[in-house]
Amino acid sequence: MRQEINVMKKQTYLATVSDLHLDQDSNRLRDVLWSCEEYVESGVDHLILGGDLVSRIPFRRGFTKKGSSVLFAKAKQDLKAYGFYNSLATSIVPGNHDLHLLGIFREQISATGFLKHFEKLHESAMVTECYYPWVKLIGPVALIGINSTSKSLGATGYIGNRQIQEISDILDRTDVRMRCPVLILHHSPLKRFKRRLKRLRDSEQFLKAIRGRVSVVLCGHTHAHGAYREQGVRVIHCSKDVIALLRIEGKDKIHLSFRSVRYEYT
Ligand SMILES: [Fe+2]
Repeated sequence: MRQEINVMKKQTYLATVSDLHLDQDSNRLRDVLWSCEEYVESGVDHLILGGDLVSRIPFRRGFTKKGSSVLFAKAKQDLKAYGFYNSLATSIVPGNHDLHLLGIFREQISATGFLKHFEKLHESAMVTECYYPWVKLIGPVALIGINSTSKSLGATGYIGNRQIQEISDILDRTDVRMRCPVLILHHSPLKRFKRRLKRLRDSEQFLKAIRGRVSVVLCGHTHAHGAYREQGVRVIHCSKDVIALLRIEGKDKIHLSFRSVRYEYT
């Protein structure tokens, strides 16, 4: 098992990918894990999966009838094989495809159910009453996980007032303030994504609450990578084919690079 990141370590590496949309035949997660080892000689300290881990879209290419639990189990197996299946090595937030919100499938998974599926990845997390947001203190980083999926809005994102208030409370904590606060959620808070299925409905309130208080926001859902700034907040978009690699050297010393996933298995 990987050890907890040493606070005194000079550099901490966070690797993020999102929207892997795994089906039963896909080895994309293994490709990501393999690439992480290839790119960082000393090893990636923490892997972040930004949601839409699995894909179950009827009538589309790659559609699988297998339940999410089966696909989640396969992902867990891959994480285990690479020593990433523990809370100190990996974090995950749900995407709209991970939860069957529209009742298309018999197997319905709530955000809480999703967290329980990946219980091992949340062991070191301090969870709020409704499980999200949660916070993990990982060496010099305070990682805050948010659920931006909504039961009634399908692919459109929504955080809600309760979570926004709790995120704000977490950011006030001394042990968080002295670290590098990194927020992860599936939907992008950028206002340029106005299309109904892409947007985060309460992005304005969210950005207002975190402005000047976080180092970076990591998200996915758009299937394209890029680095942006909105209202003074640094936002990094992550995708399935490109790893966003953050080298953290201090509270505000973050170096970002994008590295293509090397396909070994698929
Ligand atoms: Fe998505």
